[in-house]
Amino acid sequence: MIALTERGKKRLAYGFWRYHEGQVEEALAMVSAAREAGIDHLDTADVYGGVSGYGGAERLLGTLRKQAPKLFDGAFIATKGGIDVKSPYCSSQAYLQECVDGSLSRLGVARIDLFYIHRPDILTHPAELAATLDGFVAAGKIAAVGASNFTVGQVDALKRYLKAPLVAHQLQLSPGHIEPIFDGTLDQAMRENIAIAAWSPLAGGRLGADGPVELQAVRQVLVRIAAHHGVAPSAIAMAFLLKHPACITPIIGTQKPQRLTEMLAGLTVQLSSREWYDIIEAARGHRMP
Ligand SMILES: NC(=O)c1ccc[n+]([C@@H]2O[C@H](COP(=O)([O-])OP(=O)(O)OC[C@H]3O[C@@H](n4cnc5c(N)ncnc54)[C@H](OP(=O)(O)O)[C@@H]3O)[C@@H](O)[C@H]2O)c1
Repeated sequence: MIALTERGKKRLAYGFWRYHEGQVEEALAMVSAAREAGIDHLDTADVYGGVSGYGGAERLLGTLRKQAPKLFDGAFIATKGGIDVKSPYCSSQAYLQECVDGSLSRLGVARIDLFYIHRPDILTHPAELAATLDGFVAAGKIAAVGASNFTVGQVDALKRYLKAPLVAHQLQLSPGHIEPIFDGTLDQAMRENIAIAAWSPLAGGRLGADGPVELQAVRQVLVRIAAHHGVAPSAIAMAFLLKHPACITPIIGTQKPQRLTEMLAGLTVQLSSREWYDIIEAARGHRMP
């Protein structure tokens, strides 16, 4: 089974949301840096591609795989389908079949390592979605199933019908977005043995000095704790996510190798409980009761 689900091991993943198809050199440099740092999990989606449009990021990954196949030895690529800009979401069998076949072709792989439903389509019954996903597994088109941005109830409903294990739930989670810690999502993941992939673990860069005023208190606490540990605040954001007992992998998105190096320190920093709760209290705006 893919490394994402191994408990007790701290790891980061690298995401392609911010790439367009033309960024071959930059992406090659970043994937090389990520692979050297031991990152084996790459995350993309059919809709990613920036100015190159739908499919651009997957085509970029396909190009990288052709140019530097060794870089991908032992790595796994997760992708997503189910966003249909017209609908805006569609999880019909026919549409997801198109998504999966398109991703396979753009990535240039025989099987998708991990396929997520990018966002829940409320108009598709979970029994129908489950049958579609189980069909992809049976056909050998996808190796593992994930959900992204589902509610606790939506995960429960899908799991009720899905025969394949629901391996991962990908959701927005960072010191600037802590809702999944309190809304039952992470408790469900621990109860049901679902790995969590945390998207925008630095709140998409909004935890930095130029971030919005509502994240200022969190940023100040990150800066203070970072100074104490002699690392960058971004490393403390990673350590914060990795200290939670759910099996969490932060998916980082920087395109600067130096910033990747800074965040890696978060794998070894040991936050005290007091420091962890200081971040929670800053994010909630009040002390724990
Ligand atoms: N499932 C979903 O719905 C969903 C949604 C969004 C994202 N995702 C996944 O999550 C991945 C990561 O998202 P993200 O890019 O928003 O993650 P992130 O790591 O929170 O944000 C990265 C952004 O923050 C900037 N940044 C500013 N200061 C930084 C610092 N000190 N260190 C590092 N970065 C800093 C980076 O700019 P520089 O490049 O200049 O460093 C980059 O633009 C995506 O690529 C995608 O795979 C999934």
